[in-house]
Amino acid sequence: MIDVHSHVLPEIDDGSQSLQMSLAMLQMSKEQGVEVMFLTPHFYASENDPETFLHRRAKAARILQEQMNANPSMYPKCILGAEVHYYRGIGHTKAMDLLRMGNSRYILLEPPFRRWTESFLEDVRLLRDEQNLKIIIAHIERYFDQDSSLLQELLQEPEVYIQSNAECFLSLLKRHKPLKMVKNGHIDFLGSDCHNLQKRRPNLAEGRSIIQGKIGPDSLRQIDRNSAQLVEAAKAPKRDSI
Ligand SMILES: [Fe+2]
Repeated sequence: MIDVHSHVLPEIDDGSQSLQMSLAMLQMSKEQGVEVMFLTPHFYASENDPETFLHRRAKAARILQEQMNANPSMYPKCILGAEVHYYRGIGHTKAMDLLRMGNSRYILLEPPFRRWTESFLEDVRLLRDEQNLKIIIAHIERYFDQDSSLLQELLQEPEVYIQSNAECFLSLLKRHKPLKMVKNGHIDFLGSDCHNLQKRRPNLAEGRSIIQGKIGPDSLRQIDRNSAQLVEAAKAPKRDSI
C-alpha cells in the first residue's frame, strides 16, 4: 500500500505536533500495510517562500529519520513532497519545480476552496505545459460543489491526476460519488491525508477495504499501479535540468 498524502512530519504544519506523534502515525500506517508514505506538509506561498519551506521540511525530516533509523522495520519508507496550496499565478512560478514529490515530476496541488474560475484551470495547464509538471489534484471530494463544467474539464485534462482521501469512503453520506469515480477510473491515487492519531488518523486500509467491498477486489489495481509508478519516479536519480 502506498499513501500519497500525509501530514506526518513533526511541527511543520497543522499535522503532527510532536516527534512522538509522528512516529506513532508512521507505526499505525505500517501496521495497516502501508509500505511507502509521501510526507506532504502544507505549502502556503503567503507564509513561506519555497526555499524557507524546504529548509524547515529538511530539518523536520532529519529529526524524524534519525528516530526511524533506530527501528526501520517499524515504519513505512518515506518520500518527501508537499501539498501546494493554489494561488493565482502559480502557473508562472518557476519555483514550483522545487516542491515535487521526491525526484518525480509530480506535484500535489490543493485547489482553491473559493469558487473556481477558468483562471484556476489555466494555471494548472501552465504548470503542466510550461513547467513540465504532472499535477495531482488533492482530495477531489472536497470540490464536488464547484462548477460542474470546470470540474469535468479538470477531470479530462491530460497529465492531470486525481487523488481522493480514504476518509470519504468511510462516510455513508459522502462515499457514493467517490466510489462511482473509482469505478469509472477517475481516481488515480489514494491518500490518508492523516494529521494526527484521532480524528484525522492514518486510515488508508479502512478506506481501501470499503472500496474493495463495494466495487470488487480488482477496483484498486490501477490505483496501485499508478502509485507504484509514482514511487519509482520519486526514487529515480535526479535529472539535471536541460
Ligand atoms: Fe492534506
